[in-house]
Amino acid sequence: MENILKIKNLNLFFGKYQALYDINLALKPKSMLALVGESGCGKTMTAMSIIKLIPKTANIKSGEIIFKGEDLLLYKEKQMRKLRGNKIALIPQDPMTSLNPLYTIGNQLIEAIRTHNDVSERQALRKAKEVLDLVSIPDIENKLNYYPHELSGGMKQRIIIAMALACNAELIIADEPTTALDVTIQKQIMDLIDEIKNEFGTTILLISHDLALVSNYADYVSVMYSGHIVEKAPADKFFKKPIHPYSMALLNSLPSKNPNLKLKTIEGAPPSIQEEIFGCKFFPRCEYYKAGICDKKTPQLLEKEIYHYSACFIK
Ligand SMILES: Nc1ncnc2c1ncn2[C@@H]1O[C@H](COP(=O)(O)OP(=O)(O)O)[C@@H](O)[C@H]1O
Ligand code: SF4
Ligand SMILES: [Mg+2]
Repeated sequence: MENILKIKNLNLFFGKYQALYDINLALKPKSMLALVGESGCGKTMTAMSIIKLIPKTANIKSGEIIFKGEDLLLYKEKQMRKLRGNKIALIPQDPMTSLNPLYTIGNQLIEAIRTHNDVSERQALRKAKEVLDLVSIPDIENKLNYYPHELSGGMKQRIIIAMALACNAELIIADEPTTALDVTIQKQIMDLIDEIKNEFGTTILLISHDLALVSNYADYVSVMYSGHIVEKAPADKFFKKPIHPYSMALLNSLPSKNPNLKLKTIEGAPPSIQEEIFGCKFFPRCEYYKAGICDKKTPQLLEKEIYHYSACFIK
């Protein structure tokens, strides 16, 4: 199956400091790819590069972002605006970055629908109700008149998902969509995103620092560390036997993996982009580190087992 999205050798800088190194990602239609890693690894910058909403100080030096055969990096802002919220929808960590506090839910949905479709207000209203029903918003007639602040965090995320549905998004980028929510609500929102994938064939790029959450939903996993993809595999292979020492350390720090043991967290923190580290960026924290090998060159992402890639000299 052809990929709906392909990121090729994406390099992003803040001034002279590099935040993304030769990122390669491919998303198959109707699948969910999870991009995981600790905070600061470059997940959000990767996601924002796709819809070209990177900070003003960020600079994409090279790379391609091929969405349905076209390189979005060559698109003008006007073309991007057509794509955003239409073919490609973003579910951010904080729903208020997508909702306008000054307009009711109904008005925002109708506006979004009419921006992307040539329909009357009545048809848009009907569509709005339909998608609110799909995302299980109770008491829809009333909720249409609510302002965002009158809804809980989970309900607001449902509204944003409804907007993506209303505009027939083909790709949903969910950047830590449940991080701000209570644990019980987290599962409901993830179940809803998963249902949308299965029901409508929407492709999902799920960004998360939470491997336990990812293990329940993702079809493919790519692990990021310090601006590099260090491991990628189909989810079943990845969770059965992670190869890269960073992934192993992440998995070992999961409570479900180690119910009786004392949790082992990874010592230290990822480096900042200003920090210069020769060789493998993970070496200061790595159990398998070999001096003279790991600190000389950057390990390349290589296929170690069928469809299972790791960027490590040792593993
Ligand atoms: N506006 C910015 N200016 C400078 N550096 C930034 C900016 N935004 C992000 N960064 C840096 O880029 C790196 C990647 O950030 P990000 O993609 O947000 O990480 P993640 O989403 O994985 O937590 C981090 O080291 C972060 O400090
Ligand atoms: S290359 Fe070396 S330091 Fe890096 S993850 Fe592999 S063993 Fe650890
Ligand atoms: Mg982020």
